[in-house]
Amino acid sequence: MKNDLCVLAGPASKDLAGNIAKTLGAELVDVELRIFPDGESKVRIAGELDGKVAVVVQSTYPPVDTHLMQLLFIIGRAKKTARRIVAVIPYLAYARQDKEFLKGEAVSMELVAGILNSAGIDGLVTVDIHSQLALSHFTIQARNVTAIQLLANYFKSKKLEQPLAVSPDIGGVGRAHAFAGFLGIPSIALPKSRDRASGEVTIDTSAPEIRQARGRDVILIDDMISTGSSVVKAAQVLRSAGCGKIFVACTHALLVGGALEKITAAGAGEVIGTNTVPSSVSKVDVAPVICDELRKLDR
Ligand code: R5P
Repeated sequence: MKNDLCVLAGPASKDLAGNIAKTLGAELVDVELRIFPDGESKVRIAGELDGKVAVVVQSTYPPVDTHLMQLLFIIGRAKKTARRIVAVIPYLAYARQDKEFLKGEAVSMELVAGILNSAGIDGLVTVDIHSQLALSHFTIQARNVTAIQLLANYFKSKKLEQPLAVSPDIGGVGRAHAFAGFLGIPSIALPKSRDRASGEVTIDTSAPEIRQARGRDVILIDDMISTGSSVVKAAQVLRSAGCGKIFVACTHALLVGGALEKITAAGAGEVIGTNTVPSSVSKVDVAPVICDELRKLDR
């Protein structure tokens, strides 16, 4: 790696930025943050970027819009002196609103991508983005990397009884299959549906694949946990089917509105997330897969 690279530690991702800089052997530049009483953020880049490639690391977990604005301010300031800007946005907010589901809805991801494009970034790396459609809204070099193998590695040392990987919804069938492949175990996906207006989650309990969970330890695997409704419902269905221990793993553990307590109350023995969203369940470091991608980007 050339020494013209520096890693800017956005306020939302200081530890991860440190891990990325260390892995790349690059200079780590701190970004100081001040939040005013009215909620406005002010950032200051505490280092020189002259002619360098600046890798700006800032996740956009809640408070989503605050973290997004801070990211834009960092990019805007870095742009004045850096040669190139690469945004590392480990959790990319708004990726779920990647199309118009109900007539009249804004396609939020399209707008957010447009803002980042025009802010002047030259490249973007994100982790387990909700859909490829979301990524397609970028006009710059935008890459998605996955933490699924790293999450699977976490389970390799655990002694599990006939483990079964379970996606809480059909959309995640590929993810659960890939995760299961790394562990050499089977996988299933549950037929979940969500009411687009109320957000209520239901799972069709008549689906025959649910019976496969009987007597097995299950690992629920998802891209993200927000309110926890999806994995709570899945855990309840799996328990009713007579499963053994329940583990819950995801890349982005947003855990809003007491989600962790709800998931634990639903019978999950352990929740595992990554450091795309720093929390007490951030047990997997995604720096290795981000650095692999950064090494490939145009310089
Ligand atoms: C949905 O398609 C996603 O993959 C997640 O399952 C969902 O966003 C999780 O949200 P919640 O925790 O609120 O059910």
